[in-house]
Amino acid sequence: MRIAVCPGSFDPVTMGHLDVFERASRMSDQVIVAVLVNKKKSSLFTLDERIEMLTEATSHLPNVSVDSFYGLLVDYCRDHNVNAIVKGLRAVSDFDYELQMAQMNYRLTQVETCFISTNPLYSYLSSSLVKEVATHGGNVSGLVPDVVLKRLEDKLSSTI
Ligand code: PNS
Repeated sequence: MRIAVCPGSFDPVTMGHLDVFERASRMSDQVIVAVLVNKKKSSLFTLDERIEMLTEATSHLPNVSVDSFYGLLVDYCRDHNVNAIVKGLRAVSDFDYELQMAQMNYRLTQVETCFISTNPLYSYLSSSLVKEVATHGGNVSGLVPDVVLKRLEDKLSSTI
């Protein structure tokens, strides 16, 4: 069985992420979306909220599951028999950092990283931009799954 992992912060999940999950799910028997527990980085959504949104947004993909991890991604991959890390590449600006991580991860445990070229519809999209636009009342519908749109509205109305 081929198992892929799509790691990230997903604060929140965007349509760009979802596109990568869908395409990874066609290439692997099982895909695990793994949310990093990052105690140093402050997030808009709690870990549980991010997992709930990811679970709902991927509910149409039977071979995709959602999990969280703490520490090194390579340790998670080893413990869960992951064959490949799958990530989206939006633009050249992503490449340097992603290549560095892929090479370090390979150096650590020989785990492979596969890059999926992001759908051009979403190449400018990031969780940070979504949060910034939504915070100032901009319209992010179509850029995030419906479940995220609703949660963003709730979250931002309760923090204003
Ligand atoms: O969505 P993000 O924040 O860009 O995702 C980055 C992530 C979670 C994929 C990366 O920071 C990661 O793998 N962190 C886990 C810690 C780790 O393994 N660090 C060494 C990377 S070479």
